This record gives sequence, structure tokens and C-alpha cells, in this order.
Amino acid sequence: VTRKTVWIGTNWKMNKGPAEALAAAEALKAYRAPDGVKPFIITPFTSLQAVASVLKGADVLVGAQNMHWEESGSWTGEISPGMVKECGADIVLIGHSERRQHFAETDWTVSRKMSAALRHGLRPLLCIGESLEEYDFGVTAETLSRQLKIALHDVAHADLPNILIAYEPVWAIGAGGRAADTDCVAKVHAGLRAVLCEIAGKDIGDRVPLLYGGSVTQDNARSYVSQPNVDGVFVGRAGWSVPDFEKLIDRVI
Ligand code: G3P
Repeated sequence: VTRKTVWIGTNWKMNKGPAEALAAAEALKAYRAPDGVKPFIITPFTSLQAVASVLKGADVLVGAQNMHWEESGSWTGEISPGMVKECGADIVLIGHSERRQHFAETDWTVSRKMSAALRHGLRPLLCIGESLEEYDFGVTAETLSRQLKIALHDVAHADLPNILIAYEPVWAIGAGGRAADTDCVAKVHAGLRAVLCEIAGKDIGDRVPLLYGGSVTQDNARSYVSQPNVDGVFVGRAGWSVPDFEKLIDRVI
């Protein structure tokens, strides 16, 4: 039986300046991922180039937390897809809920960024998730379907297996969050799979990796990954220290 590929990533968020990030990258350099596991780290921009150059050819892939969709121009404070690529990133996070919530990221900007990332040979990691209000109103499926359909609207179907999607319910993320129940994640992911198959057909829809994120820990990670439509986990706090991140991977397998 061939086991599915399992993606396990950590989003450093606004942590680790250049010195600390470099030390973490050095520590991860010799890490050998178990068969079938693809680990990745998502660094702040200021650490991206150094981290990517240390981890070039290593088992751990490197990504950025955001980017603009334009390639250059008068966009003060922004970073272009070409810049992210030139820094050596493989992956780029698009539409993290913290950006949707606090930095005016919309379904429209997410959609522009998805095609821009693919044009630049970056693997977009699209984050979608419902707010607590949407969850309470019972519109989780509708919310996610809308986010997904808009984000993927301009993506060629053939490119879909090269992207990653993380389901991150807003109410599950960060210090005030609570991890979603495994059953709830299984149900939501089955729904997401159905939407992907509706968009691109079953052959392609079945091959898009779907990750869960939101208060994942060493203790609960494995239960998510054992669900049929869960192809990995995307962690924040539980992966900020390198030993914790490595331990979490070991406990999933
Ligand atoms: O991007 C991953 C993240 O939003 C989850 O954060 O700290 O709840 O694992 P955390």
C-alpha cells in the first residue's frame, strides 16, 4: 500500500529575526524527513533569503508568508512574487486569516496572488477558514466554498495538484483558539474535496493536498493526518522551536 504524502509545515509568523532564523535553519539542515513526509517552514521576509540558502537541497522546504500580485511598481511596503522567488522560496502563503482579518486581504487579492505565485514558479499555500460568527451561523461550508472558488478561479486546472490548501478555522488559531474536533475537520475536508472535484474533475480534485491548521499540537497532529482527506498539518506555535517541530513530525508518523 502506498501511503499518501504528508505535508507538515510551521508558520513562524512574526517571530525569528535574521539571527534566530539562521540558527533555526542551521539546526534543520541535517534533518532527514521520514519517507513520504514533506516538512516546510514559512519564514518572515527578513529571514527568507538566509534561511532558503542554508536549506537549499535540504529536506525542509522554505516559504514566505505573503506577497503582492504585481511584479514591481509603486507599492510601498510590499514584496513582489519575483522577489520572493529570487530569495529562494519554494512556497508562498496566500490568504492567511491573520492577513484577511488585520491587513485587508480579500478573496479578490487572494485570487490575484494565486495566479501570480504560479506564474513565478512558486507553490501557493492557500489558507481558507470561517470566522467564529460564520461557524455559529452554520455557514462554514458556504464560506469555504466561496473562498475556494474565488481563489482558484483563475488557476489552470492542471496547476491545482501543485498548490497546497490549508483549512484554518479562524476560531481555532492562536493562543485564544481551540483545536477543531477531528470529526469536524474530516467532514469539512470531505466537503472541500467535493468542491475541488466539482471545479476541476475528480482526477485532479483528488490530488490537491488539503492540510488542517489551528492549535495543532504534538498530541493531536496524528489524529488529523489519519483522516482520509487530510494530507497534512500546518502548525504555528507547536513548530516554532526546531526540536518541537521535529518531535511533532515524528509523532505524526
Ligand atoms: O498558519 C498556522 C497557524 O495559523 C496556526 O497557528 O499557533 O494555532 O498552531 P497555531
